[in-house]
Amino acid sequence: MSGHEFQTSFPDSGGVDFSDRDSNLDEAAMAELREIASRYPQPRSAIMPMLHLVQSYDGRISPAGVKACAEIAGVTEAQVSGVATFYTMYRRRPGGKHHIGVCTTALCAVMGGDALLESVERKLGIGPDETTADGMFSLERVECNAACDFAPVMMVNWEYMDNMTPAKAAQILDDLAVGNEVKASRGATITSWRDAERVLAGFPDGRADEGPSAGEASLRGTRLAAENKWTPPSAAEAAKIVAEQAKQEQSKAEGEKK
Ligand code: FES
Repeated sequence: MSGHEFQTSFPDSGGVDFSDRDSNLDEAAMAELREIASRYPQPRSAIMPMLHLVQSYDGRISPAGVKACAEIAGVTEAQVSGVATFYTMYRRRPGGKHHIGVCTTALCAVMGGDALLESVERKLGIGPDETTADGMFSLERVECNAACDFAPVMMVNWEYMDNMTPAKAAQILDDLAVGNEVKASRGATITSWRDAERVLAGFPDGRADEGPSAGEASLRGTRLAAENKWTPPSAAEAAKIVAEQAKQEQSKAEGEKK
């Protein structure tokens, strides 16, 4: 590869693997896929949750899942594949019982995300986009999880593990490996990646209210504002501020031209 070519961090992000025809989609699964579609005025709007359900049954986006979603949503298989391969939450290959994501985007990187990822790689003996031989864990380098106030964060089956250190991550992985109960920092008890996918498909497991809804780091700003009686500007004030900023930028640009 020449030094000028773009090197992807997602080498596994090709198309759906049509060579692997395995599928667990049975009549019950088809009925659930139809139920998801019935929740939307247009069945095609249901493609994303339907794909999550396919993952909960098949552990990945399977060819049978693509076909089923296309038939029920009234679109082509190519259109379903297009959605499935656009988003990184949809897997092309089977993963582990627990899917681990380590964020290495800017804020997490500054707070030790790369060191965290390296420690998890060493601990599991696999790199990103790989699965352990016993099928227990798969690993992914993830982009910002919108939890920067808890950086560095690690995801387990899409649940947040906040303010991670290599030692804390190792303990979580040890507990998961032997089946000990593990709770997310601000969420539910960890189940499995497939169970989490079923929840994302719109079939709640009754755990949504477990754990605090927001952490201290997120609430601190709200509390500071209340203590200092800070309030956001009204819509009219905000419009005035934006107009003033635009005027300043325009006169600056005109000044630079002269
Ligand atoms: S940079 Fe990691 S959560 Fe935002």
